[in-house]
Order: sequence, then C-alpha cells, then structure tokens
Amino acid sequence: MKGEAWQALTAHAEEARAFSLVELFAQEADRLDRLSLNIGPLHFDFSKTHADARTLALLEKLAADAELDRWRAALFAGHVVNPTENRAATHPAERGVGAEANVAAASDAKARMKALVERVDAGAFGPIRHVLHIGIGGSALGPALLLDALARQNSRHEVEVIANIDGAALEPALKRFNPAETLIVIVSKTFTTTETMTNAEAAIDWMRAAGVADPLTRCVAVTAAPAQARKFGLGQEAILPFAETVGGRYSLWSAVGLPFALSAGWAAFEELLDGAAEMDRHFRDTPLARNAPVLAAMLDVWYATFLKAETRAVFAYDERLRLLPAYLQQLEMESNGKRVTRDGTPVDYATAAITWGGTGTDAQHAVFQLLHQGTHLVPTEFIAVVEPGHSLGGTHHQQLLANCFAQGAALMRGRTFEEALALSNGDTALAAAKQFTGNRPSTTVLLERLSPRALGMLLAFYEHRTFSAAVLLGINAFDQMGVELGKEMAKAMEKLLGGDTSAGAGFDPSTLALMQRAFRG
Ligand code: F6P
Repeated sequence: MKGEAWQALTAHAEEARAFSLVELFAQEADRLDRLSLNIGPLHFDFSKTHADARTLALLEKLAADAELDRWRAALFAGHVVNPTENRAATHPAERGVGAEANVAAASDAKARMKALVERVDAGAFGPIRHVLHIGIGGSALGPALLLDALARQNSRHEVEVIANIDGAALEPALKRFNPAETLIVIVSKTFTTTETMTNAEAAIDWMRAAGVADPLTRCVAVTAAPAQARKFGLGQEAILPFAETVGGRYSLWSAVGLPFALSAGWAAFEELLDGAAEMDRHFRDTPLARNAPVLAAMLDVWYATFLKAETRAVFAYDERLRLLPAYLQQLEMESNGKRVTRDGTPVDYATAAITWGGTGTDAQHAVFQLLHQGTHLVPTEFIAVVEPGHSLGGTHHQQLLANCFAQGAALMRGRTFEEALALSNGDTALAAAKQFTGNRPSTTVLLERLSPRALGMLLAFYEHRTFSAAVLLGINAFDQMGVELGKEMAKAMEKLLGGDTSAGAGFDPSTLALMQRAFRG
C-alpha cells in the first residue's frame, strides 16, 4: 500500500503544514482555474485547501500506485470490488451506467417499480393519501433526504420515514395518518433488520385494529431478499426487489426510492437517476486531475491521513439539504470507517475522517466558534444553491449565500493580532481572544438550482468520492462488518431478558447493572 508516493506525501505533509492558503493563491496564478470545476449545474471549488501543484502531483501518483484507474473500471464493469462479500457494487447500473447485464436487471426492476407507482395512482391499494416508509440506515436516510429536498411542495402524498425502534418515532405518524388511506412501504435489503420488522408489525397491527380488513394488502416490500418478504406474508406483486450488489447506503436509486417516486412523480425520479448517470460518466471517463470525485477524494485522504485531520465538517447552506450531513455520515463513515485493508492487514494510518455538520446559517451561531478559533484542523465543506427554494424575495437568499461565502473567506483569511488589537483598545488579552489564525481549509459546492438532476449528480459525486478515497487507502468501501457485533449483543440481551441466563455470559458488570436498573430484575 505504502509505495513511493505514500512516502513522498508523508514527507511533503511536513512542509504542507507551513503552507499559507493566502500565499498559495498569490504564488499560483492559475490556482482557482486548476482547482475549480464545472460539471452540468454543479460548480466545485477546491482551491482553499493546503495542496500546491506538487501535492496534487503526488496525490495523482498515489492514485496511480493504488490503481484507481483499474478499480474505477472494475466498478463499472461489475467486477468484484467488495472482496469480503465477494460482490460487485452495481449502484451505477441503477442509473443505467455499467455492465450490460446489470443495467438490464436494474431496468427490469425499475419497470416493476414504475408499474407499482402506476397501480398505487390507479387505486389498486385503495385510496392512498399517506405513505408510511419503514426502514433504517441506508433504507431510510436516502429516501428521507430526497423527500425533504425535492418533495416538500406539491407532494402527491404525505410521507413519513420511520426508522428508529423507539416507539416515539412511529407513534406520531400513527396518530396523524388515516389507516384506511395509508400505504405501508417496508424497506429492508435483508428483510431481517429488527427495528424495521418490529415497526412494520406495529404498523400492520395499527391498521388491523382500525378495522382495515387485510392490512397486508396495503403493504409493499422493497428488498434484496424477496423470499423473506414472502415469508412475512406479502404477495409477489407487492414485492419490489433490488440487487444484492446494491449496498444499503447506495440504494436510493433502486426501489428504495419508492416514496420519492410516489410523492414527486415518476418523471422526477427518472431525472434524479439521469443526473446521477451524468456524474457516473464524468467519474468514469475524465482524467484524474480534472475528475471532481477523484480530486475531492485525494484531498480527503490528504487531510485525514497525511495531515491528520480527525474530522471533516459539511454544512448545507440550504434548508432543503438539511439532511445531507446525516446522509453523508452514513455514506462516508459506514463505507470507509475501516481498520484493515482489502486483504485484511491492519492499517497504521487514519482512514475516513469523522463526518459531521449541519445547516447554515444556524450552525454559525452554534459550532463555528470551534471552526474559526478551536485547536483542531477541520476541513470544512459548504454546499449552496444559487436559485432560492422559496418565494420570499431576494433578501433571505442573498444573506444566506453571502454568509456561506464569507465563512469560507474568513476561515482562510483570519484576523491578525494587530488587527485584533486595533479593535481592543490596546487590551492584549482581548486582542488574543479576537484574533483568528485563519489558514483554515474549506471547499465549496455550488448548485445552480436544486433540481432532481442536480441532486442526483451531487449524491453520485459523493458516492464516487467515497469509493475513490477507499481505493487510495486500500480499503473496502462496500462492506460494514462493524455494525454486526452490537446487533448480536442486543439479540443476546433480549434472550437474557427472556429468561435464557446462558445469554448473559458475554456481558460485563457495568452492562449487567444497567440492565438491572432499567429492566428491574
Ligand atoms: O446496520 C447497518 C445496516 O446494515 C446498514 O448498512 C443498512 O443500510 C441498514 O442497516 C439497514 O439494513 P436493511 O436495509 O437490511 O434493513
């Protein structure tokens, strides 16, 4: 893994710590041109980062050493890119880009999905006003983001996405929805996830209790395990399958996006897929130095692995994208939060940074203090949209965008001690508190408007960025074994609570005491 480029980057990181972003702009006349890209309605600005021409050349060399070209080709060819599960990753095929057989299979599944949307519209499930989407993780975050971003207005149905096993998540929807006018969509790749199955059963009981004659006929399943859905009691025509090779966090393009297709309409769903396909083609066909997901991934690895930034922050300066940070947390942390390489060797370097973030401008009044004056290096990403998502007039939007751009500028520029002193009546302690060291990195993604096409492109950009970073790091982006142990222990705990005392053997005294306190015995 650690070839010549890796060693050179490790040494170069020492010099790069002393880089001044302001000086990089002064020294490199073509910096902005080289580090910004336009792809359809998306503009990317990577220029406010601690990477000079040499850094980028070395990162390109790292990509060559890591055989990014070959892995990228393997992804689109439908070859195994997820070795621990011996699987391909065929989410691009869901958008029509990839190996012929995978595209054909995805398009068959899409035809079934479209037919089901038409059947719902035609009243085959009774009069539907409410859609209860039940799923968790990748089976919830993507659809919830799509609905919130693109289907707030003119939605054809009222949709709730219910994920948490906490009954407080489901109950309000059950109180608000009319059981006689509700479609339950159970979304689970495995169709075994405890939270989803428990919530689905509760929703079906709610319908039955309200007198709906056969609640199962008001349910649709979206799954890669149709046999499990059959066992649950659903008929073949109510099951929308998707491929095993589509990972949960990469699945909103499949029938997992059903509630969005139902509420925004089929044309909007297709536009979303077409947008993602544009980004697929850009990623597949563009040389690494002008490839947006690759450049972003190189900088992610540069900061997290070589400059040792432990986190990366993402702020959506658009209310419609408020769920994007949560979506990216799963995409990036579940994909690349790994401690071994593809062949199982433990790594001695940092892999994915911790992704966190929020919405601008709210976050400015809450967490930006640390970004500007804290002691951590936090590469920060701003996402904004030129066209407003409301009709309140220009003032709101001008202030929103001005704040977004000003934050990036302020993080970079800072305020010198002398400038701070001039604002502090000669009080040096106050001046120290008012000083901003600046030189803090940020990237900006600017969308012309938040259309399904632009959002499709944006989300596919993040997917390919995550995959590219995994390749540079030598890890597998497509498994998630780290979620298993906790699930198994929760099951053991339930057994213990059910009276099987042998299941308590694996629990420590602290955990047993917590159980005792919560479950009284
Ligand atoms: O526990 C993590 C996880 O397996 C995610 O990877 C997945 O998106 C989520 O749970 C839900 O899984 P499923 O779609 O199989 O219910």
